[in-house]
Amino acid sequence: MARTQELQTFLDATRDAFAASGATAEALAMADKVFGAADATPGEAAAPEAVEMPACEHLQDALDRARGEGGHVGALADAIAGIAPRLMWVLRPNGQNDDATFKARHANAVVVGEGGLEARDDIRIGMSLLAPDTRYPDHRHPPEEIYTVISPGEWKQHADGKFHAPGVGGFVHNVPSIIHGMQSTNVPLLAVWSLWMGVD
Ligand SMILES: [Fe+2]
Repeated sequence: MARTQELQTFLDATRDAFAASGATAEALAMADKVFGAADATPGEAAAPEAVEMPACEHLQDALDRARGEGGHVGALADAIAGIAPRLMWVLRPNGQNDDATFKARHANAVVVGEGGLEARDDIRIGMSLLAPDTRYPDHRHPPEEIYTVISPGEWKQHADGKFHAPGVGGFVHNVPSIIHGMQSTNVPLLAVWSLWMGVD
């Protein structure tokens, strides 16, 4: 089945916003792999159960703020609004021991990949939403990862690393298995992540 226009618009907007993010050559090369694969072959369309988490109450605020930025960030916010109602929002993987407060203050949704709107395992694209003043625990995973940042928020790498703010429209690039975490400021954090799961 062909990819829906809403999903294609989201993929294009994510790719365009990342290309304008000031990303390094290495991160742009990684983006080329992910979005090149997405463009080359649409995966099989999927329809996960549409589920919201408590933190989704902050999505509208995050999207409104991003729209106010205009440009690529605003376009990506519009594109997210077009697919958000169809997404299965979930809590973070392996977070069974997270406390109730954190569980109520974060949500992730896969857009492309298992659990998303297109079933495939070579790439994984989705987003993370944090309520204001929320710390997302440090974690690591083998796939290389980029974030397209469309809200205020701070990211860190390495266990002892300092938080830094990429800025709205900025980027984060996590090389394979690096320890990384993030935290919101006094407004919601919203960012799209893209992982390369394939073989070079
Ligand atoms: Fe990650």
